[in-house]
Amino acid sequence: MVILDDTGKIKEIDRSGMLRTVEEFPRQCRDAVSLGEEVKLSEDLKKVSSLAVLGMGGSGIGGDLLKTIVESESKLSVSVVKGYDLPRHIDSDTLVFAVSYSGETEETLSVFAQAIDRRAKIIAITSGGSLQEQAARNGFSTIKVPTGYQPRAALGFLFLPMLIVLSRLGLISSQEAAVSEALGLLAALSSRFSSKQPVSENSAKQLAGELLGKFPVIYGSDGLTAPAALRWKCQLDENSKVQAFWNVFPELNHNEIVGWELLKELTRNFVLVFLRDKKEHPRIAKRMEITRELISGHVGAIHQVWCEGKSRLAKILSVLYQGDFVSVYLALLNGADPTPVDRIRLLKERLAGNW
Ligand code: F6R
Repeated sequence: MVILDDTGKIKEIDRSGMLRTVEEFPRQCRDAVSLGEEVKLSEDLKKVSSLAVLGMGGSGIGGDLLKTIVESESKLSVSVVKGYDLPRHIDSDTLVFAVSYSGETEETLSVFAQAIDRRAKIIAITSGGSLQEQAARNGFSTIKVPTGYQPRAALGFLFLPMLIVLSRLGLISSQEAAVSEALGLLAALSSRFSSKQPVSENSAKQLAGELLGKFPVIYGSDGLTAPAALRWKCQLDENSKVQAFWNVFPELNHNEIVGWELLKELTRNFVLVFLRDKKEHPRIAKRMEITRELISGHVGAIHQVWCEGKSRLAKILSVLYQGDFVSVYLALLNGADPTPVDRIRLLKERLAGNW
């Protein structure tokens, strides 16, 4: 644990500076809001009856966040497409965000091409590549995000502009208050969890210590923290290089809870993290309490991480942001550089020459 307070050692392991990128996330979010405010939007983008986000991995999670926020306040449904085939219901009445940080992700380019054929209304979000070229050729609005990031570390750029654009188009209510609350809260959390805060006063460093040598399992709740739980899992996979799992209350009470029954000696190697909110559905709170009572003897430990803020945006981003810090601190404890994702790179390289 002492290495987390040793800046020299941290720099040695975190060669590409992922921790700094995470610490600077509030500023990234501020810049991302400007990107959403500046992009040119035509009137016809307003004439839609549904929304879709096309994107994989770090570029797709913004779609999950958007769905959770938009569907709680608007009648528009949001389809998040993470695959090669575009669902039939996406057509000329759909506003589609095609999101790929690199602009080269083959699944996203595949559904993007289908969306063009269906004459969907399209906005591209990318740092370049084929997506940018094809969007320009077709005259689509493009939100050009800065290069030099790992896609997952550019979440602010890949997510917030969508929210701002929808609000500018009048498809959802003004996000001004929520965005301003979220930005303020993220800045406060950045200081609270920063590398400068010693382990003794830094709950993100402490939780990373609890997860060391264990399999993390992140439980969110339907409609609020579910996408944050998925983000935690993916960040633990990609930054910390450990296998992590996630699931969602109440659904997990109807299946996964039984899986913590046999193999007790093995399941004690799993440490659970419940993502909580003070205003969560009272039955969810009850379910979490009973679940804890039923399974605590069968898992290593159960921790809780709480949402902060009032708006859904602030709540979700606050609980997600804590996970980003935990994942980087866990990487450092494991002596692993958080930035490279060799398996993903190798897989893409092998697929590329192999159609
Ligand atoms: C890497 C990462 C990945 C990528 C995914 C799609 O940091 O997060 O999950 O996001 O492989 O690639 P892009 O984002 O370039 O479309």
